[in-house]
Amino acid sequence: MKHRIAISTLMVGVLFLACTPKNPEEEKIENLLSQMTIEEKIGQMNQLDPSWDAEPKEQLIKEGKVGSIFNVVGAKEINRLQRMAVEESRLGIPLLVARDVIHGYETIYPIPLGQGATWNTALVERAAQLTAQEATSFGIHWAFSPMVDVAHDPRWGRVAEGYGEDSYLTSRMGAAVVRGYQSEGMAACVKHFAGYSVSEGGRDYNTTWIPEVQLRDIYLPPFKAALDAGAMSIMCSFNDMNGLPSSANHHLNVDLLRTEWHSDALLVSDWGSGSDLVPHGLAANKKDAALRCINARMEMDMQGNIYTDYLKELLDEGKIKESQIDECVRSILRMKFRLGLFENPYVDEENPKKYTPEEIAIVDQAVEESAILLKNDGVLPLTLDKKQQTILVCGPMADQKKEQLGTWVFDGKPEYSVTPLMAFNELAQSGNFKVLYEPGLSFSRDKNSKGINKAVTQAKKADVILYFCGEEAILSGEARCRANLNLPGAQCEMMDALVATGKPVVMIVMAGRPLTIGAQAEKAAAVLYAFHGGTRAGVGLANLITGKAVPSGKTPITFPKMVGQVPLYYNRHNTGRPSYAPPMLIDSIPIGCPQFSIGQSSYWLETPTEPLYPFGFGLSYTTFEYGEPQISQTELADSIIVSCEITNTGSKDAFEVAQLYTHQLYGDLVRPICELKGFQKIFIPAGEKKEVQFTLHKSDLGYWHEQKHNCESRVWFATDPVDFELWVSPDSRRLTKPIAFKVK
Ligand code: GLC
Repeated sequence: MKHRIAISTLMVGVLFLACTPKNPEEEKIENLLSQMTIEEKIGQMNQLDPSWDAEPKEQLIKEGKVGSIFNVVGAKEINRLQRMAVEESRLGIPLLVARDVIHGYETIYPIPLGQGATWNTALVERAAQLTAQEATSFGIHWAFSPMVDVAHDPRWGRVAEGYGEDSYLTSRMGAAVVRGYQSEGMAACVKHFAGYSVSEGGRDYNTTWIPEVQLRDIYLPPFKAALDAGAMSIMCSFNDMNGLPSSANHHLNVDLLRTEWHSDALLVSDWGSGSDLVPHGLAANKKDAALRCINARMEMDMQGNIYTDYLKELLDEGKIKESQIDECVRSILRMKFRLGLFENPYVDEENPKKYTPEEIAIVDQAVEESAILLKNDGVLPLTLDKKQQTILVCGPMADQKKEQLGTWVFDGKPEYSVTPLMAFNELAQSGNFKVLYEPGLSFSRDKNSKGINKAVTQAKKADVILYFCGEEAILSGEARCRANLNLPGAQCEMMDALVATGKPVVMIVMAGRPLTIGAQAEKAAAVLYAFHGGTRAGVGLANLITGKAVPSGKTPITFPKMVGQVPLYYNRHNTGRPSYAPPMLIDSIPIGCPQFSIGQSSYWLETPTEPLYPFGFGLSYTTFEYGEPQISQTELADSIIVSCEITNTGSKDAFEVAQLYTHQLYGDLVRPICELKGFQKIFIPAGEKKEVQFTLHKSDLGYWHEQKHNCESRVWFATDPVDFELWVSPDSRRLTKPIAFKVK
């Protein structure tokens, strides 16, 4: 008898522990969940954009059939709908209110690719904090960003929305945005999970084939970094990966996200990505799509209506369990509790916070640090105080309040914009120079070259030409992929005409991606690559051009010479036939030469493998000299310290981004010729030197291994005990002598 009592006591204890929520938050969730009907539970999994169709959403909200709304504009309207959920629905569960706040709300910062070019995570975090202060003051407490899709293909329109081609840089930037947002009460949503940027041909929504080890080495770390930084939510991607669209990918959404990473972040679909399983050819119909998605634990259905239409039916048919719905609803309620929505569901309608002096200071700094000086024959910075000078401001991007904001701008106000023309006219008020203006082309795709002659006429009167060229905002972003990367319209023709005047041409490119500007850059006196700089692009650029600020941006993505080189990225494999020596190019091949007479190495007949500008590259108005790196030990057991002295050998105080790269010489798998393992942006006064220090851990050098046996495959993360080399450099080229070391 005693024995039986002991067992039953033990069982009660186990049962109690199993059902006991881990903490007060979980207790509140369980308590609320226990009161909900199945319709109310399914309602929480439904996210709607009330502006999308004519059907009014108020009744659905009052019936508790909506868990989140997005794209609702204005605190008043948000409060109106929120009041229906909180005060009129049976349980008063507040709505999550979301918006694509991608690089600012009303005050627009440089596009994320430009923010990646700052290599300044503290600045990016501060910008995110200020963005969250602004957006939450308008009633938005859930931002659909950061996008951390590592992108190797500038043809892909959404390269504008990420932080470039490197997993480590993207991880640091994504985590900074998450911290910035969430420290100010706005939930981040890291996206798009996963592999979206690998779409074939750089064509949006296209197929991806990604081996597990590559997925884990390159594309997943930024998501893990964002989740480790506390991201409250994560968004599915549109693409099918290895034949499986992400919304139905149990391996991604459960094995990895929940079991391996132990994440409790809310997993929301992308816009209709659940119902997209039908056109993907995975699901037979929308009901089947709903089944696949819930079985892969896609927890909230953005604008797909498949959960509200089919989950109850699937439950009644016994095809799903209520426990599957419960686990999704727990994630949703958890996010609402964490955001404090049950205590404070409404927003103060009278106190929007926007365009504050601090935001202006930070957005100007972001513009200055996101621009990359790619070439300078000494024409920059302009010396405007010496003698009366005449400047021609020209080009289709010189005075475009809306276009300079870039892609994914819903709430940015073009009327706030300061364009380059406005900034130079402002400077000329008090400066010793004159500004002439002639766009030459009306917009970036303008093929009507008649206006170019007017610009040439003006150029002949000027001492220096500032040519603002690039892409309109609509030419990058979602579903905005390009099959060639040239400057659109007649912009190249205009550049040639300006150069033909014999006056120095400073080319300032405002675009959403790297463009193949090699031929134009060759003729330019200087090239400043500004991406789309946002509301105050003109101010930051004028500060750089006139020397009030010194360029410090570095390329976050490789700039190809021609689109045929794509994908081209710095951390590539060497191949068995690397093309070290300058290969024989197509026009120098002797006619009728024998088949094997011109060498067998990995390049193109039209171009070598070298890019136009490498990853991590950017010039300054000063020069820096790197000493030989010193390492604490030549054998790495747990970690080593790497230090390097950098001297500002020029005449301008400036920031420099010192980059730590490693190369594994051999191992269980082929490894990249070079990998970024650390970076530091440091300020060095002219003539002075500073030492940077990095700690390199054994795990930093690890990668995912794979062993296949028959049809089975096993993956694991490890660091090979082999020879490595490292260098500290101003960019990804081996500009300093590599230092050898061994991992024990
Ligand atoms: C879009 C995008 C996603 C965005 C969502 C809501 O299709 O893929 O990044 O957050 O829909 O607008």
